[in-house]
Amino acid sequence: MAKKPIRVAVTGAAGNIGYALLFRIASGQMLGADQPVILQLLEIPVEGPQKALKGVAMELEDCAFPLLQDMVLTGDADVAFKDANWCLLVGSKPRGPGMERADLLKDNGKIFIAQGQSIDKVAADDARVAVVGNPCNTNVMIAASQAKRLPADRFTAMVRLDENRGRAQLAQKAGVSINEVSDLFIYGNHSPTMFADYTHAKIGGKAAADVINDRAWLENDYLPTVGKRGAAIIEARGLSSAASAANALIDHVHDLVTPGAIHSVAVKSEGRYGFDPNVWAGMPVKTTAPGAYEVITSYEMDDFAKSKIKITNDELVSERDTVKDMLS
Ligand code: NAD
Ligand code: LMR
Repeated sequence: MAKKPIRVAVTGAAGNIGYALLFRIASGQMLGADQPVILQLLEIPVEGPQKALKGVAMELEDCAFPLLQDMVLTGDADVAFKDANWCLLVGSKPRGPGMERADLLKDNGKIFIAQGQSIDKVAADDARVAVVGNPCNTNVMIAASQAKRLPADRFTAMVRLDENRGRAQLAQKAGVSINEVSDLFIYGNHSPTMFADYTHAKIGGKAAADVINDRAWLENDYLPTVGKRGAAIIEARGLSSAASAANALIDHVHDLVTPGAIHSVAVKSEGRYGFDPNVWAGMPVKTTAPGAYEVITSYEMDDFAKSKIKITNDELVSERDTVKDMLS
């Protein structure tokens, strides 16, 4: 018997990430090759973006995806999130050259007040929320604070792009296939302060730090390269990453519905790894059932790792202070 369709709400659906994302959701790459979906697409309610959204929907129709059961196009959040099982919050302003993601807080933060309230009002009881719009760790906190009907662990933000970047850089340095690199997890903020924990990463099953055997490179080149990769893409492309971000969101949700997957997700810290209990910080999780996960707390951090975690935690706390008026 055919499965019941899953309703996936996507905000900013006519934007750059949206254009790289929707076709992959509709083709089954996110929720499974036998899982029908209904796309509920939100754009700002003005003519240009709504017209562009219509164009994207026409292209989706033209793909004749067997799994795409229906589409809703709207400028109204209450329509987009109605009965949604997954809410993918992408829509928001990207940064330009020379900006930090935290510079977007005041502009983007308010989007997540209204959308959090709408999710609280109309989304499905089993709704899960993944935030991509930057600064994503703090935006997810704002949305969660407005949607108390849903438990806080349903709200996640994306650090998977950083994990993917971190794995690729280690593979390149070691001259091995990406498949050889494992156990690389991202701690803290999706910002240059993030800690890509190479101290527990493995290459070909051995400690990555032993295989690379160049502590100075790991500390002084690797960490900044991963942390500032978003800015490097903006510098090179003139636009922020879109295809790799969409790919990471597919990975993020795919792994959250795949029991046994171990991956980096920004979750409410609840004090784990020394983070402030009420910030959303990247850390490793293991998916236990579709949509459910437990945080892996068994990694022992050395003094260097602890010092890095403190820096990224301090930044998350200061972002929270900046938006305290937006938290309900
Ligand atoms: P974009 O400007 O191409 O598209 C954003 C879209 O969102 C636009 O079409 C805009 O009209 C729409 N939008 C704005 N406000 C909205 C609202 N309130 N409701 C619905 N739609 C709204 O930007 P993009 O390149 O797609 O990036 C989107 C966001 O994702 C940015 O904030 C960017 O910084 C962030 N991002 C995060 C990561 C990550 O790893 N977490 C990676 C890449 C980009
Ligand atoms: C990224 O990491 O590529 C995105 O967060 C976009 C940005 O502003 O860096």
